[in-house]
Amino acid sequence: MHYYLVGFMGSGKSYWANVWAAKNGFDFVDLDKVIEEKESMSVLDLFEQKGEEYFRVTEAAALRDAEKSENTIISCGGGTPCFYDNMDWMNLHGVTIYLSAPPQFLLSNIMSDTVKRPLVKNVNENELLYFIQQTLANRKEFYEKAKFTLVAEGLNEDSFDMVLKD
Ligand code: S3P
Repeated sequence: MHYYLVGFMGSGKSYWANVWAAKNGFDFVDLDKVIEEKESMSVLDLFEQKGEEYFRVTEAAALRDAEKSENTIISCGGGTPCFYDNMDWMNLHGVTIYLSAPPQFLLSNIMSDTVKRPLVKNVNENELLYFIQQTLANRKEFYEKAKFTLVAEGLNEDSFDMVLKD
C-alpha cells in the first residue's frame, strides 16, 4: 500500500512520515527530495531559476514516477495536492492522510525551521501569518479530499495505527 501524507508547510509531514515508516518497517519517500535529486538542485533554486510552473510540472511527474516498494509512506510538498489532478490521482493510487493544523501552529514551525521555503522566503512574521491564512483557506478543499485527517498537534508514533487498522 502507498500512503500519501498531505498538508500545509510546517504541518510535520516529513517528520511523521519518517517516524511512522520506521516504526512499521515501511519505506519513506520525501517528494521534495526526489525532485531535488532528479533536478540536481534545491527546491529553492528550482523556484528561482526555473519558476513555479516548472516546479509544479516536475512535482506532478515525480509523484507519478516515485520509486515505491510494497509499503511506502510518501511525504508530499504542501502544494502537491492542489495542482493538476494530483489529489484525485493519489486517492486512486493509495491512501491519503491530511495533517491538519491551525495557522499559528504552522507559523511557529515554519519560523523555527532552518529549511528555506521559496514561497515564504522574504516575509516578516505578520506577512507570513497572513500568507498562511489565505493560502490555507484556498488549499483546504484539496486537503480535505484526503481519506483520513489527523490533527497535527499532539501526534505521536502510534497515531498512524488508526490508518493501518482501517
Ligand atoms: C510548497 C511546499 C514545500 C515545497 C515547495 C512548495 C508549497 O514543501 O514543495 O516549497 O507550495 O506549499 P513542504 O510542505 O514540505 O515545505
